[in-house]
Amino acid sequence: MHAFFLLVLCAVVCGVSSNSQQVVIETLMDNVVVLRVPHGPRPVVNVPLSCGEAYQNQPVFWKKNGVEMNPSLVGNHVTVSVEEMKGGNFTCHFSPDGDALNHTIILIQLQPDKSVILEKKSPAEGYIHCSAPNYKGSFHCTWTRTEFRTNAAVLLVKAQRYMENIPCELNADGSGVHCQDANCPYNEERHRISLAVYIYSSSLLEAYTKSFYLREIVRPAKLPNLQLSDGRVFSWDYPDSWEKPCTFFGLQFEVKAVHSGHSCHSDSLIMSNTTDQTRYEVNIKTRRYVFCVRAQDKHTSGPWSHWSQCTVNKNNVSC
Ligand SMILES: *[C@@H]1O[C@H](CO)[C@@H](O)[C@H](O)[C@H]1NC(C)=O
Ligand SMILES: *[C@@H]1O[C@H](CO)[C@@H](O)[C@H](O)[C@H]1NC(C)=O
Ligand SMILES: *[C@@H]1O[C@H](CO)[C@@H](O)[C@H](O)[C@H]1NC(C)=O
Repeated sequence: MHAFFLLVLCAVVCGVSSNSQQVVIETLMDNVVVLRVPHGPRPVVNVPLSCGEAYQNQPVFWKKNGVEMNPSLVGNHVTVSVEEMKGGNFTCHFSPDGDALNHTIILIQLQPDKSVILEKKSPAEGYIHCSAPNYKGSFHCTWTRTEFRTNAAVLLVKAQRYMENIPCELNADGSGVHCQDANCPYNEERHRISLAVYIYSSSLLEAYTKSFYLREIVRPAKLPNLQLSDGRVFSWDYPDSWEKPCTFFGLQFEVKAVHSGHSCHSDSLIMSNTTDQTRYEVNIKTRRYVFCVRAQDKHTSGPWSHWSQCTVNKNNVSC
């Protein structure tokens, strides 16, 4: 009985895996061809290249990464053999010192990705961190290249919500994107936003994806105008970037006092509490402490803002 099951299992698993052994050649975007290569021994892949209709029947020849190929490769329609991870930028020319007429970049993507180009932000977040200051639809995502791949370049960023594209703009240094979803912020969010980042280093291409609801990444900005009055009452304001009216998108606040000299992240608590008000009256004996306050969306219990703080040293208060 067991042996029979194993046989059936193998028929299924082995069948699937022998299918996936094949390299898939895909045109990811204009001028970019991706070879999707399964793990294991890397076969030589023959990739057809064309200089384009415009140069049909003309004597063009090819360079790889700016260097003439050896043996030389001549003709509008050619085939290059790509072995191991040796992709590159293939350009066609009329003459050895002439400009490129057209080009095709061949990149190799391992299946599944090994994820060597980006560094994990945290186990919970994965490789991409996304955040939004409110529900208006604007959000940004960042990533970090690993120490040895700092030259990796972003090829393509795709953001979508239920098949609708969301426009994004890449940071100048390629370490993040800023996107603007046109969805109405007052609608209940039914579909996740999905983000795909294609990034390459030499000829190695990797794809990183993330999917989330806006409500999961909305993090209020640091609370402004924190001040102390009457010696015991701290007050602050809603962030300017937070949605108005405040009653609809209400914030709740965590307040705490920690021992003098400690940061707001420390566990050295004197007191802690929560409130919906933008003021809090402290009732503690010590006159040296650090007062800390941060905010989160009351209804979604989403990410917390960064801490705002005041250092109290008897009559000296600095916020
Ligand atoms: C450049 O080559 C691509 C194929 O790789 C082709 O689709 C495109 O039309 C060519 N461009 C020109 C100007 O011929
Ligand atoms: C590939 O070569 C073309 C033509 O020289 C150039 O315009 C393009 O920027 C190159 N792309 C990369 C990724 O090297
Ligand atoms: C927490 O704060 C509320 C007012 O916001 C106050 O009534 C209550 O006494 C506080 N609790 C503690 C333990 O300080």
